[in-house]
Amino acid sequence: MDRVTALQNQLLNHLAAEAETIGKISPLNLYHPIEYTLNMGGKRLRPLMVLLANELFGGKAEDVMNGALAIEIFHNFTLLHDDIMDKAEVRRNKPAVHKQYNENIAILSGDAMSIMAYRYLLKTKAAKLPEIISLFTETAIEVCEGQQYDMDFEERQDVSVEEYLKMIRLKTAVLLACSFKMGALAANASEHDAENIYQFGINLGLAFQLQDDLLDVYADPEKFGKRIGGDIVANKKTFLLITALKRANEYEKTQLNDWLQKSYFDEPAKIAAVKAIYESTGVREICEAAIKTYYDKALFSLTNIEVEPTKKQNLLFLAKSIMGREH
Ligand code: IPE
Ligand code: IPE
Ligand code: MG
Ligand code: MG
Ligand code: MG
Repeated sequence: MDRVTALQNQLLNHLAAEAETIGKISPLNLYHPIEYTLNMGGKRLRPLMVLLANELFGGKAEDVMNGALAIEIFHNFTLLHDDIMDKAEVRRNKPAVHKQYNENIAILSGDAMSIMAYRYLLKTKAAKLPEIISLFTETAIEVCEGQQYDMDFEERQDVSVEEYLKMIRLKTAVLLACSFKMGALAANASEHDAENIYQFGINLGLAFQLQDDLLDVYADPEKFGKRIGGDIVANKKTFLLITALKRANEYEKTQLNDWLQKSYFDEPAKIAAVKAIYESTGVREICEAAIKTYYDKALFSLTNIEVEPTKKQNLLFLAKSIMGREH
């Protein structure tokens, strides 16, 4: 997909230039971690979603580039705080910001990034900028709600699949959906199309977070770039754990509940024990089927967009590559 690669390169150049400028501003302890974060890599999916959605409806990448940067900086801010909250020390195969620097720095640099996101957003060239700002603002608050549910659920043993889906819709899917819709609005897409590309993002986002939870257990650590088993250690109520608790026999249920209640434990032993129950309850396959369900729903919303099907190839390519991700 030559066009996708070209847009990706354009985006990476902009991001690198911004990172270099930001990294030189004083106080360095505020801005240098931001440069570190923006230069850490990552898949850069969300800004690409902005650019591809914009192009689908005839927009120009230059006009919406600042909106794309806003989304990526906001996403990276959430990661700085998420890694503190999840006690995750490695991100993109590098020390997380709170380890590389310290926790206070990760909090404040993260705060600054969330505000800088607005600075980029305000520079976006679009007739519908007020609508875009309001979409972004609502999305940002939803992400906070999702993150709080995620933390609350660590302490609960009775989280349902429905509650889990609501939580991942908020913490993850709405930002993907917002990225697509921002691109669409900036290109003056119809309300019908803007709504369908939003739903495309929601369903792709649900599939994406289900996949992230699966990778957290089964990925190749080198490729994943994050610690394997972190969700198990933190008692995250993932689809895997919720489904395992439902399908376990009495003995497995007691074992799982014991691990969930222990405050002091050997982490590799807990990861191995919980993985063994995932294996015997067959939850990996059930999770893979759920991913496929949401991916198919996403494709259905893409079909509903009233644009010539051949023009949707780039978005289809992106969706497929997300599903095949290993990191
Ligand atoms: C990580 O997002 C947070 C989740 C929503 C799972 P990504 O997997 O897009 O992270 P990077 O930006 O590519 O590192
Ligand atoms: C991602 O949840 C949600 C946000 C960062 C907003 P995770 O906690 O699963 O993300 P990773 O796995 O640390 O990237
Ligand atoms: Mg995390
Ligand atoms: Mg988290
Ligand atoms: Mg995760």
